[in-house]
Amino acid sequence: MAPFLSSFLLPFCLFSFFSSSFSSKPSHKVYIVYLGEHTGSYAAEEIQENHHGLLFSVKNSEEEARRSILYSYKNSINGFAALLSDEEAEILSAREEVISAYPSEAKWAPHTTRSWEFLTDYEGLNQRGFGFLENDWQPSKANHGKDVIVGMLDSGIWPESKSFSDEGFDPVPARWRGICETGQSFKASSCNRKIIGARYYLKSYEAYYGSLNTSYAYRSPRDGDGHGTHTSSTVAGRSVSNVSALGGFAKGTVSGGAPLARLAVYKVCWPIPGPNPNIENTCFEADMLAAIDDAIGDGVDVLSISIGSIGDPPTFAKDGIAVGALHAAKREIVVVCSAGNSGPKPATVSNLAPWIITVGASSIDRAFTAEIKLGNNVIVTVNLKYYRLWENILNTITLRNYRFSQFNYLKFQGQTVTPYQLEGKDYPLIYAGDAAIAGTAANLTGQCLPNSLSPEKVKGKILLCFRGTGLRAEKGQEVKRAGGAAIILGNAIANGNEVPVDAHVLPGAGVSASDATKILIYINSSSNPTASLGQARTVNGIKPSPSIAQFSSRGPNVLEPNILKPDITAPGLNILAAWSQSSSPTKLGNDKRKVKYNIISGTSMSCPHVSATAVLLKSIYPHWSSSAIRSAMMTTANLNNAQGGPLMNGDGTTGGPFDFGSGHVRPIHAADPGLVYEASYQDYLLFMCASTGVQMDFYYPCPKDPPLPYALNYPSVAVSRLNGTVSIFRTVTNVAQGKFQYRVSVDNPNGISVQISPKSLKFNDVGEKKSFKIVLKDKGTVMRGNGTYVAGSYTWNDGVHLVRSPIVVSFG
Ligand SMILES: *[C@@H]1O[C@H](CO)[C@@H](O)[C@H](O)[C@H]1NC(C)=O
Ligand SMILES: *[C@@H]1O[C@H](CO)[C@@H](O)[C@H](O)[C@H]1NC(C)=O
Ligand SMILES: *[C@@H]1O[C@H](CO)[C@@H](O)[C@H](O)[C@H]1NC(C)=O
Ligand SMILES: *[C@@H]1O[C@H](CO)[C@@H](O)[C@H](O)[C@H]1NC(C)=O
Ligand SMILES: *[C@@H]1O[C@H](CO)[C@@H](O)[C@H](O)[C@H]1NC(C)=O
Ligand SMILES: *[C@@H]1O[C@H](CO)[C@@H](O)[C@H](O)[C@H]1NC(C)=O
Repeated sequence: MAPFLSSFLLPFCLFSFFSSSFSSKPSHKVYIVYLGEHTGSYAAEEIQENHHGLLFSVKNSEEEARRSILYSYKNSINGFAALLSDEEAEILSAREEVISAYPSEAKWAPHTTRSWEFLTDYEGLNQRGFGFLENDWQPSKANHGKDVIVGMLDSGIWPESKSFSDEGFDPVPARWRGICETGQSFKASSCNRKIIGARYYLKSYEAYYGSLNTSYAYRSPRDGDGHGTHTSSTVAGRSVSNVSALGGFAKGTVSGGAPLARLAVYKVCWPIPGPNPNIENTCFEADMLAAIDDAIGDGVDVLSISIGSIGDPPTFAKDGIAVGALHAAKREIVVVCSAGNSGPKPATVSNLAPWIITVGASSIDRAFTAEIKLGNNVIVTVNLKYYRLWENILNTITLRNYRFSQFNYLKFQGQTVTPYQLEGKDYPLIYAGDAAIAGTAANLTGQCLPNSLSPEKVKGKILLCFRGTGLRAEKGQEVKRAGGAAIILGNAIANGNEVPVDAHVLPGAGVSASDATKILIYINSSSNPTASLGQARTVNGIKPSPSIAQFSSRGPNVLEPNILKPDITAPGLNILAAWSQSSSPTKLGNDKRKVKYNIISGTSMSCPHVSATAVLLKSIYPHWSSSAIRSAMMTTANLNNAQGGPLMNGDGTTGGPFDFGSGHVRPIHAADPGLVYEASYQDYLLFMCASTGVQMDFYYPCPKDPPLPYALNYPSVAVSRLNGTVSIFRTVTNVAQGKFQYRVSVDNPNGISVQISPKSLKFNDVGEKKSFKIVLKDKGTVMRGNGTYVAGSYTWNDGVHLVRSPIVVSFG
């Protein structure tokens, strides 16, 4: 193969300030040296010797080679992680047997909204999720995922949660080869028949940050954060009755999607040292790769990874999750990842490899509301001359589209899960921008950032604050610090009507951008503005639902636009699941509350819904390939909301494939897909040859003319920069019992003609495969150029099954 040269001249600024921790070798950092796939069976010692030998070729002594190695990946992934200088890494990457060598970076984080808020300092678009699992949505023949093993790469687990009880469980499946790694506050008895394995990985973290500070983090699989407990219980939590979050919300039974599945916990995410280490986690690639390698060796069936890269995604061959997932796919392990929380901006989706199922987030039909009543029900006349001024002050809110005339203000539905309540009377109401301490930057007034509010102006009042910069719950904490009675947290315009709920540390509620604007106008036009905030309650039947969360990252796929991402969408806004007992619901340093269940949002929360669906499918069809399971979910996904209308975005616009992929997951339909699109490990290797020119496995050299990336037998079709006409072949496999005749129908993308031949396919047996050709032709009726994408679909229909594939095309 051609040596794969990496560009080592990239400025890894994150590393430079930390390099001091290697006082002897300031320029060394953790590199992953990737060697492909282990073939045959070698003893762990042999593999290690081989890795040492390779390292020795760039180190001064054997001793130094041994010292510098962190991990020797030995189960499926062939490679190692070691402390290397850039020069050493470059020499290694030029060697024949090395496929890629790349730094294990600190640019990975769990896909909760918090991470993104914290790291980007821009909260505006990175919120929510919602959904609940007590709906009995699992097909009963899946037997609740009984004995399927799901591996969780996350922040660990809180094993005492009732959600992880093993009551009534059979012994651990004999095929399980994993271990229960003990450590700080985690004994062998912390594992049980539910949590059948637990391990932790932090060598790359410690190489970067120094020793883990065990005063705020557990050096063990125990979850000090909450995220891993939340995602694990969303996939496989037992059904627990009479649960309510935060003192009364969402009372009822909580259950994961596959409550009888077994959990294997791989803790790879750790707190970022700093003034409030518990607010933010980071996950290093070398640690994640070690975890995936072990998970493969241990025998998991499904891997759920609610983690993604921050900023520009690394290329597939230098992406620890993608490389690990490729090895998992070879063993037909289903790998499910979150799409990211950087929407609604286009081209923000992460976890882009076609052997990963990439999951966007939606809302469900539940809300937690509290009524906000404005005091004197005055008729307000807005002085037009003010709106420009506000625009400048608020920065994030634009009133331009507002019709200012006369409004009759009465009441609004705020959204909240704070357990605190105001007395049922009117309180003085002010805009936080009018209570800022002198010297607060003009563009940050109204944001309620820490230490920005003047107690004299705030005491005893309800404050209207805005989203945009900083953490939501922290804004509530600031209002409390300054002596305020309650917070009304207004959406920025970009957040639209999608209101995340928070367990604020004082009474409070979130409101949509338009409601926030009205409240602001009311404050400004009234000499004595007042408001009351009613008791919060849980409301079902919110319409329209589901809709695609604004924060959910959007396509197109920046690494390979000929593969559509995200693949599918699942609930991720305001999701209730189990929580760590060493973390507060807001994770704020001063919040000392403990909760057993918490409501949070993100594609981190939608990913485990799809993982659970994969577990259920695996339980019904143990012999299905991982690509068949992916296909079953994608081709049966829903394009409509519960009201029968089209799936919409959180801002009320109609969604498309870049918003929701193939659509919204429907577990029961996925259990009877009719036909599936399968792809093998070799197909993925060919895809890598075509897409990146990298040969990922020494035993499969790249052919001279590999099939183009869109030729991968994927359940969706994406063609970037179509010039004239392309022909694409697809093969479907019948997975239903009986004889079927399918006919195809096409919804042509604007300006494209889609011809499919043959137009009908007959199947007599399970496992029978049939191929067909799709010809896409540019009719020349749509303006070409960058960024013009058109969408359509084709569907195979036998009268029982609808097997639908979205088509997206851009013009060359
Ligand atoms: C560990 O964290 C605690 C609490 O945040 C802090 O007081 C202490 O200085 C830290 N220790 C080290 C070695 O950084
Ligand atoms: C549910 O929990 C509440 C509070 O913990 C308790 O008062 C109530 O009796 C429980 N109800 C049932 C049916 O167990
Ligand atoms: C506020 O303004 C300052 C100075 O112009 C700028 O550096 C900063 O990025 C702005 N912050 C926001 C959130 O817009
Ligand atoms: C309304 O807003 C304008 C511009 O910020 C300000 O000058 C005026 O004093 C406000 N009026 C009231 C009643 O708050
Ligand atoms: C169309 O041509 C451009 C430029 O030559 C190329 O990059 C692109 O891949 C082609 N598209 C297809 C679908 O063949
Ligand atoms: C399209 O985008 C590419 C890369 O961003 C740029 O180089 C090219 O000039 C653009 N073409 C047109 C027609 O705008």
